Amino acid sequence: MSALGAAGLGLTAWGARRAAERALRPVAAAEAEMADICEATDATRRVSVPPTDDVPARLAARVNGVLDRLERSARQRRTFLTDASHELRTPLTGLRTRIELALAAPGDADLPETLEGALHDVERLHRIVDDLLALARLDAGEEPALEPIDIGALVDAEIAVRTPPVPLNAKVETGIMVEGNPIRLGRLLVNLLANAERHAAGSIEVEVRTDGPEAVVEVCDDGPGIPPAERDRIFDRFTRLDSARSRVDGGSGLGLAVARVIALSHGGSLYAADTGRDDEHATGARFVLRLPLLRR
Ligand SMILES: Nc1ncnc2c1ncn2[C@@H]1O[C@H](COP(=O)(O)OP(=O)(O)OP(=O)(O)O)[C@@H](O)[C@H]1O
Ligand SMILES: [Mg+2]
Repeated sequence: MSALGAAGLGLTAWGARRAAERALRPVAAAEAEMADICEATDATRRVSVPPTDDVPARLAARVNGVLDRLERSARQRRTFLTDASHELRTPLTGLRTRIELALAAPGDADLPETLEGALHDVERLHRIVDDLLALARLDAGEEPALEPIDIGALVDAEIAVRTPPVPLNAKVETGIMVEGNPIRLGRLLVNLLANAERHAAGSIEVEVRTDGPEAVVEVCDDGPGIPPAERDRIFDRFTRLDSARSRVDGGSGLGLAVARVIALSHGGSLYAADTGRDDEHATGARFVLRLPLLRR
């Protein structure tokens, strides 16, 4: 190769390297910013997005999207931990106060009453811990054993073991098959039935039917109902619309959150709907569970 040719090749290679370096400059800058962000305690920091319409700009925007998600999930985890600790503290404080009072004046204490109160607190703690564990397992995507289930028969079985405080009318079609885990679906149904029992004024209606490719379970009551604006929020963890009353009744606001995650893990849905009554004083809650029918 002539000296001139070699010099030409060298020049081309140098030019290509310079062009690549120039093109990668925004990426290198973003990397340096990312290194800073990883060290920083401020979770709201983001990388700068170059004002260009190219790959580095899109990459930076995506990195910021991921950082947004991480920040949101860290915030949710913190809120969840705070709420969970708060919920656990209420019955624990009750338990401690009862024991301290009984110990301070052993002669005065009515032992059966103290123990009954303590048992109530322990049961509440137990329920909260059970729900928290169920949520942790569901969040982790733990897959339980699935089997063909006659959803109508499962609903009948759950109703049979309850003693509702008001009449319960069941319109249940049997033979509707879904694929699911009977323990988890049972828990979902219990949560809906317990809510209806807690809120009903005079009656509860339960219906099981098919609708196209889905099995539908409806649990309705004639209590105060749920205002449309609150119908999504009630499925959030630890949400209670009437916290004073729920606290007395022992609700912790986890039942519907658990129920919805179970429905989703079965490929279904759970939501609060209109009661379908059109008189202006219509009240009452209507919860609808939809599950895909088992394909034979
Ligand atoms: N059938 C219903 N009628 C009216 N309000 C309801 C009904 N079901 C649920 N809610 C409202 O939604 C809130 C959340 O319900 P959820 O089942 O998650 O919690 P909870 O019943 O308060 O406690 P937990 O189920 O953990 O014992 C309730 O506190 C209540 O305010
Ligand atoms: Mg509940």
